[in-house]
Amino acid sequence: MSSQERISERAHDALSARKAGGLLRRLEARPKRAPWLNLADNDYLNLSRDPAVIAAASEAAQQWGVSAAASPLITGYTELHAELERSLASWHGYQHGLVWNSGFAANSAVLGMLPQRGDVVLADRLIHASMVAGILRSGARLRRFPHNDLHALQAMLAGENQREGAVFVVTESIYSMDGDCPDLAALSQLREEFAFFWVLDEAHATGWYGETGAGALEAQGCLGAPDVLVGTLGKAFGSQGAYTLFHDPALRDWLLNEAGEFVYSTYLAPPAAGAALAALTCIRELESERPALAGLSRSWRAAMQSLGADVPDGDSPVVPVHLGSAERAIAVQRGLLARGFRVSSIRPPTVPDGTARLRVSLRRGLTDVQRDAFTIALKEALQCE
Ligand SMILES: Cc1ncc(COP(=O)(O)O)c(C=O)c1O
Repeated sequence: MSSQERISERAHDALSARKAGGLLRRLEARPKRAPWLNLADNDYLNLSRDPAVIAAASEAAQQWGVSAAASPLITGYTELHAELERSLASWHGYQHGLVWNSGFAANSAVLGMLPQRGDVVLADRLIHASMVAGILRSGARLRRFPHNDLHALQAMLAGENQREGAVFVVTESIYSMDGDCPDLAALSQLREEFAFFWVLDEAHATGWYGETGAGALEAQGCLGAPDVLVGTLGKAFGSQGAYTLFHDPALRDWLLNEAGEFVYSTYLAPPAAGAALAALTCIRELESERPALAGLSRSWRAAMQSLGADVPDGDSPVVPVHLGSAERAIAVQRGLLARGFRVSSIRPPTVPDGTARLRVSLRRGLTDVQRDAFTIALKEALQCE
């Protein structure tokens, strides 16, 4: 068998296994004018379409070009990126920041480099794949604690207290597929007690929570508590890219010297950086509107719960509708699509086996009429499958 035949066989085997489990993924190009309401993306504040954000992206393209055209240590890092870094850091209560091409790159770099062999990483069972990818290549020992179970984490910390190497704790604030949040004040308290190194990903919380929109840490009164804060620019910011924030400048310098994701990749395009800066201004200006976002989430959840759907309480933009099997999730998703609503179906391995679900992602400006129409569509789709 030739090498080409071998590789092709591997691909076919992998695809057949996915198909058999109802887990085959397909790429579908979104049409310019989609005939459905988008409840699947992460543009929680509609900023990707905001005129001020679009104008800032286009001005950045005029001034700096559409591409950074080089990696950051060559000439890709511009004054625009530096300004973005400074603005994000001070907003979140940090002294130092670094902007990345994506959240995946940021997380895999931070968790691939900071923990090392001999260290232990205590991670929530549901952390994002980008963080798991980093930890697995770091050489540190990975231990998972049950989702949001801080008692279990405390017990693990007590057991690791005498160890030689460093202890890391890795969590998200709003979990990307569950839309729930740990008690961050309690986590900060644990950090005081056990002096672990805390990495927190606020990807799905920034913009939605906190007086100025700085996220769940701000909402829970513990800005600046984690050692490294990760945020993304492709969700509520409506742009692209990510950032990591530090109190210790050596961490920033180390990453920008040695993280392959940073050093060897064409840097974030200036229009994305310009859009993110404008989006930050918009996010801060939404202060008076922000409390209504939590209310919107609660009312959509209550409407779905009234059907008997398995939807948890909460106030985040990420609303899971638990369905169990992958086949069921796909069938209900299709039923909703046929009725004009695009949600995502989330299946293993993105979520644990048997926990397939719809992920309904909410956005600012959704109306009660849309909520009621969606509820009827969900009822019908649940009945039909
Ligand atoms: C919690 C979390 N962190 C990081 C990322 C990756 O961010 P990006 O899309 O910018 O690569 C995601 C993406 O969905 C996420 O949900």
